[in-house]
Amino acid sequence: MAREITLSVIKADIGGWVGHSSVHPEVSAVAEGRLEEAISSGLVLDARRGRVGDDTALIMTHEKGIDDEAIHEFSWDTFITMTEKARQLGQYGAGQDLLSDSFSGNVRGMGPGCAEMTFEVRPSEPVIIFLADKTEPGAWNLPLYKMFADPFNTIGLVIDPNMHGGFLFEVHDLMEHKKVTFKTPEEIYDLLVFIGAPARYVIKYVYRASDGVVAAATSTQRLSLIAGRYVGKDDPVMIVRSQSGLPAVGEVVEPFSLAHTVAGWMRGSHHGPLMPVSWDNDTPTRFDGPPRVVGYGFQITTDGKLGEPRDMLGDVSFDNARRRALQAADYLRMHGPFEPHRLSLDEMEYTTMPQVQERLAERFEDVPEGSC
Ligand code: F6R
Ligand code: MG
Ligand code: MG
Repeated sequence: MAREITLSVIKADIGGWVGHSSVHPEVSAVAEGRLEEAISSGLVLDARRGRVGDDTALIMTHEKGIDDEAIHEFSWDTFITMTEKARQLGQYGAGQDLLSDSFSGNVRGMGPGCAEMTFEVRPSEPVIIFLADKTEPGAWNLPLYKMFADPFNTIGLVIDPNMHGGFLFEVHDLMEHKKVTFKTPEEIYDLLVFIGAPARYVIKYVYRASDGVVAAATSTQRLSLIAGRYVGKDDPVMIVRSQSGLPAVGEVVEPFSLAHTVAGWMRGSHHGPLMPVSWDNDTPTRFDGPPRVVGYGFQITTDGKLGEPRDMLGDVSFDNARRRALQAADYLRMHGPFEPHRLSLDEMEYTTMPQVQERLAERFEDVPEGSC
């Protein structure tokens, strides 16, 4: 029997260089040093540091299963150590995502985001890890739908017998803390009713319907819902397995050629295009954006080694997507503080909006019904 490994991607923003645009190299070096130690101590099989904007992702393979206390504690302690360095260097918003004073078993609910999956490693295991900055977990809904349910994106759904049976989408309601699973293609209309509202309904896992093999996992933490106020955008991560009865690498990256509109950007309060970029261009700058996504491609070996990562979205074939994103950014920016560039009122609930409303409450007078 092939070996089962767990792939954990645990991420946090523990301080920005400069503002919220990147991570200082010395802070990244702290993460890299800690990951090296985790490999040599045998805690993990292999590990890499990923980055997008002001977020650092710890990418780890191990045999401890998902939600493992030792892996989560190691990640939490790594973010704490990085925060200490960030404070020394005067980094902006040092410790931003660490919403708890002490670790209590799992990073869930404490600020950092995590996507994890356990699977039997195939003889060659192509996996793409996507990291996004200046947006929320629902940003993955549209690309996941396209990868696993849309034959205009993924021709394998039509012509690969191993994918023809469709996929299962586990959707989480982040407000009510409930989950529901939809089978595609039969239930795509029901699925779309929910995932078309990505601020609330988020795809957590995708499984192949014929045998239950896990194909994708995302991080779903909403910082504002944990903290009850705006503390920075969630900046989600996603793991997608690929090839041999799952979408091909080219089908997995194809949805990012749209540069679809997501919520986030400046102050987490604006709609903007999710621009696919190379690792060298992962620095949200204009109006703290536009939101970015990078791809780290790995081919995991049967002994759990990640190998060298490839930059999956830097390719020239995404140049048009980048151009479209920049044009969309120009167009949306011209709306200034008006919707739909600015988020709708219910999504502004976790920004300073309620404070302004409260301050001005007494100035609002009744308008008599029937007056013109
Ligand atoms: C977006 C983000 C930034 C900040 C903005 C203001 O996720 O983190 O856009 O919201 O730079 O930051 P403060 O309030 O810290 O000055
Ligand atoms: Mg930040
Ligand atoms: Mg960020």
